[in-house]
Amino acid sequence: TGLITIDEGFVNTGSTTSSICYLDGENGILRYRGYPIETLAENCDFVETSYLLIYGELPTADQLNEFRSSIRKHTMIHEDMRSFYNGFPRDAHPMAILSSVVGALSTFYQDSLDPHDAKEVEISIHRLLAKLPTIAAYSYKKSVGQPFPYPNNALTYCENFLEMMFGTPAEDYHPDPDFVKALNLLLIVHADHEQNCSTSTVRIVGSSNANLFASISAGICALWGPLHGGANEACVNMLQQIADDGGDVEKYVRMAKDKQDGFRLMGFGHRVYKNRDPRAIIIKEACDTLLAKMDIKDPLFDVAQRLEEVALQDPYFVERKLYPNVDFYSGVIYRAIGIPVQMFTVLFAMGRLPGWIAHWVEMHNSPGTRIGRPRQVYTGPTKRDFVPIENR
Ligand code: CMC
Repeated sequence: TGLITIDEGFVNTGSTTSSICYLDGENGILRYRGYPIETLAENCDFVETSYLLIYGELPTADQLNEFRSSIRKHTMIHEDMRSFYNGFPRDAHPMAILSSVVGALSTFYQDSLDPHDAKEVEISIHRLLAKLPTIAAYSYKKSVGQPFPYPNNALTYCENFLEMMFGTPAEDYHPDPDFVKALNLLLIVHADHEQNCSTSTVRIVGSSNANLFASISAGICALWGPLHGGANEACVNMLQQIADDGGDVEKYVRMAKDKQDGFRLMGFGHRVYKNRDPRAIIIKEACDTLLAKMDIKDPLFDVAQRLEEVALQDPYFVERKLYPNVDFYSGVIYRAIGIPVQMFTVLFAMGRLPGWIAHWVEMHNSPGTRIGRPRQVYTGPTKRDFVPIENR
């Protein structure tokens, strides 16, 4: 079998070639299909960015209209699927609901499960993009015990999501345009990040020829962990704890440096960025703008800024090149919009969906794709003789 090289955590192992996302961690550069995320965040909405990621080119006006209207057609989920939610405990984590319901899409759409049939894949893509906000909003409605609204296809993607989250039959809710803009920006900067943990999961599950819904459901599970997408929830919980603890950021920086402690600064550090995470820069600026415009004073934003300042002056963080990442300030914007902490990682999943899809499609369209099957070096006992149970 030849010599097997162990690369714990795949630090130096390339799993594929890809033309979707360019990431330069030394210089803090991130581009989707060649376009800098800063430009996309300024000029596109999330649906247009999704089109770019999945199909490789910016759409023409006609292509974009067609894409938007097709997605609108698929925003409802099957009535039987709505009844799933009755079975979940009210305090279920919305990420658990999200992965379960997305996995269950393959039970409702058995007509589109063949990964090698371009038409079936295409409709699955539209269904997923359309239904994820609905599935996500219902996971929140479940937690607060409010009725599940139907999507409103007169609205844009982000407006629709916010209305499903916060509207009730008793009270109309129309999202503030600044919230809609901020949400678009957040989804765009989360939309792809090459071979991260969840995207690699989607690819490896897909490499067995599992269907797209199953592959995306697996990606959602991978994203949930606090070292990956779950860091946004963990980060705001940490900022809250620091605030409740008197705002002593120095104490938490000391704790993060103490290897015995096991505590890490959530929203800090990255496998690839050894410089500022360009997403964090965009999000921090958006925080400044949104909070000032809406005249919101969030004590957690102050804690976050002081924590960043103290950490970035500390030799521990400087030597290890640990900077705030995408998850450090995003929670402050979500809070301003009114999104509850448990939903933060769900928002990350909504943002990352087009990236997952783009990688899954690219993999299937690449000649020579084989099932993902890493090797190992066995360290267990050599052959042993069986011992009958009475002699053990
Ligand atoms: N706080 C304190 N020390 C840290 C931190 C942190 N947040 N991150 C890394 N370190 C230290 C780590 O202890 C190690 O020190 P030493 O060399 O002395 O052993 C060194 O920095 C390198 O860390 P690593 O764990 O080997 O790096 P990694 O590439 O395996 O892990 C990471 C990357 C993002 C998992 C890690 O930095 C981390 O746990 N950060 C906190 C969680 C977080 O914010 N995750 C979100 C990442 S960005 C978005 C996403 O992927 O979803």
